[in-house]
Parts: sequence; structure tokens; C-alpha cells
Amino acid sequence: MARNAEALDLVELLPRYGLENYKPNIEINLFGRLYSAPIAIAPMGMPGMVWPGGEEIFAKASHKARIPFTLSTAAGATIERITELAPDTTWFQLYRMPHNNLEMNFDLVKRAKSTGVHVLILTLDVPARTKRPRELRNQLTIPYKPGLHTLIDVLPHPGWMLALARHGHNSFANYKKYTNKKLSGYELAKFARQRSGGTFSWKEVSQFRDAWPGPLVVKGILHPNDAEKAVSVGVDGVVVSNHGGRQLEGAPATVDVLPAVVNAIGKEATILFDSGIRSGLDVVRVMALGAKAALSGRPFMYGLGALGVQGADHVVNYYTEEISAAMRQIGVHNIQECNNIVIRHENALKF
Ligand SMILES: Cc1cc2nc3c(=O)[nH]c(=O)nc-3n(C[C@H](O)[C@H](O)[C@H](O)COP(=O)(O)O)c2cc1C
Repeated sequence: MARNAEALDLVELLPRYGLENYKPNIEINLFGRLYSAPIAIAPMGMPGMVWPGGEEIFAKASHKARIPFTLSTAAGATIERITELAPDTTWFQLYRMPHNNLEMNFDLVKRAKSTGVHVLILTLDVPARTKRPRELRNQLTIPYKPGLHTLIDVLPHPGWMLALARHGHNSFANYKKYTNKKLSGYELAKFARQRSGGTFSWKEVSQFRDAWPGPLVVKGILHPNDAEKAVSVGVDGVVVSNHGGRQLEGAPATVDVLPAVVNAIGKEATILFDSGIRSGLDVVRVMALGAKAALSGRPFMYGLGALGVQGADHVVNYYTEEISAAMRQIGVHNIQECNNIVIRHENALKF
């Protein structure tokens, strides 16, 4: 996680001057649809733990600002509910559920199709469960077992408790259809945990290619040969990502492998980027290196935690203002011109 942000900091951009005054155009066409800025909310399971109703808050902000919101498989709101709130800007992320011969996976894709989801993202970088010492230390388990530690944590936060009382807690909402409807939240989380883990094979990715008529993206690509393989089975885009550093602790910083992936498939597929983006300047950095847009995870969670229902709007605003300001400082008019920025990036990995 730290390496992602440090490596981004080391990417230098050379400004050019002498242009007339202008306001940069930061709109971007992604997979045939116009979005207002090159930033998307990354898929994150259970934002409702950070602020009750987190997914709905993200969806409303995405609709209002016209930026993509990627609903996670492990979300606390259904695809049907989120596409109601953000009919043109919802993307859906799918984890492989090693059960029932992928029946549940294909049914989720069907639901995404019938509700008008724009982009389907298959996450590849969770082949095995990771040991996360901080989560263990903070007793964050699935299913969650509230105890004295929870009480100590929530008592000083009456606003959060009020929001919980109003909204309730509703994780793994998309799984409900596949279980006994009377399962308690605890049992549903247990059901979800039993079905998590494992990654899609290339053969399976191509089966999803057949099942999903819209734009298909794979997330978690770090090696240019995997990027080429993804293109060969028909994906439209990749997210160059190390899961924000939450999976393989020893993985390289995502930004350091981005140039090699751009070199390998940049002409054939849309390259998205995530892991470590913390500012509009970071977004411009990765666009200068050839990404079309960036996804952002933790900053949106931090926004939710700090500001509740206003949190997502706030983070969207700071990104759009900072992207625009960074482009103006560097001297580019629009997203396409970001490709021409002179860059120093000495740590780029050579394959
Ligand atoms: C709390 C949390 C939950 C996440 N859950 C998912 C998930 O359900 N599916 C997924 O593909 N990625 C998930 N991710 C990874 C994000 O999509 C993204 O790759 C990562 O957060 C990007 O790094 P950043 O947090 O530095 O922006 C999660 C990340 C966080 C922080």
C-alpha cells in the first residue's frame, strides 16, 4: 500500500507555458459513454460498515457527477437498487464464486445485463485469501462478530449509530437471491465467505465474454503478457491494479508496471489504473503514462468515514478540481493531450 503511493510520488511531469488562458476539458469517453472526469469509484466490499448505506451514497454521487461507480460483488446493496439510483453510470465487479459451476456468477451477470450496467469487471487478483494482520488485530472478521471492541469503537460516534439505526446493516445483498431468504445477516455473511476465493481462468474469462454483450474488463493485471492474454480472449479493457496493496504484499507498485502494459496492449484495449491514487495530480500522472482513467478506492472510503452522506460528493469534487488544476499547471487542454506530457519515471519495470 505504501509502495503504491511512494512510486506515484516519484513520477515527475514537466510543465510547458505560454498558452492562452483556458479551462481544461476533463470529460472522457469510456467504452462509448461520455463521463465528466477520468476518475471512477473502485469496487469495494461493504462500504456500509464505514457509513451505513455507503453504496447508495456512492451511487448518488456517481449519478450526480456522471462518473462511474463500480458496485462490488460483496456489496450491501443489490445491482437492481444501485442501477435505479445511477442508471447510466453503474459498473459491476464480479468475483469468482467457486460453487455451483459458476451458476451464481452467470446469474449475477444476467442481472447486470437486465438492469443496464455499463461495464462488467472480472477481478483476477484474489486467487487465495490473504492474511491481513491489521484486520485480525482490529477483529474485522467475516462474518463480523460485534463485541466489546465494537462498542468502544462506535460509542464516541453517535452520528454513525444514528445512521445505522436509520439505514440498518445489509451486507452481501446480492447473494440473498441464492440462499434461504430467512438467513440472518450473520448466516448470509457465512454463506458469502464460503463462496469467496479463487480466480477466473482464461477459459472462464472467455465464457463471460460470450455471456456479456457489453464492455468487459479484467482487474488486477500486472504483467504485460497477462494483458496480452486478456486481449486475446476478447476483453475490452484491463485495470492495472495490485488491489491497492491488499493482496500480495510483495507485488510491485502498480504505477511501475503501467508503462509495460501500455506498451503491450495500449493500442488494442482501454487501460484503466488503480492502487495508490490520492490526488488529481496522481490521476494526471497515470494518464501521462498511458492510462485512460483511474479508479480510486480508499479515498472514497475515507470520505464516507469523515463526512457520511456528503463524503462521496466531496471526494469527487476534490478529484475534479485537482485534475483540472494539475492539467492547467502542466499546460494541457484535454485528456488526449496528457499523452504528450514529458515524464521522468525511473522506476518503471522492464520486462
Ligand atoms: C475496503 C476495500 C474493499 C475492497 N473490496 C474490493 C472488492 O470487493 N472487489 C474488488 O475487485 N476490489 C476490491 N478492493 C480493491 C479496490 O477495488 C481497488 O483496487 C483499490 O482500493 C485501489 O487502491 P486504493 O485504495 O489505493 O485506491 C477493495 C479495496 C478496499 C480498500
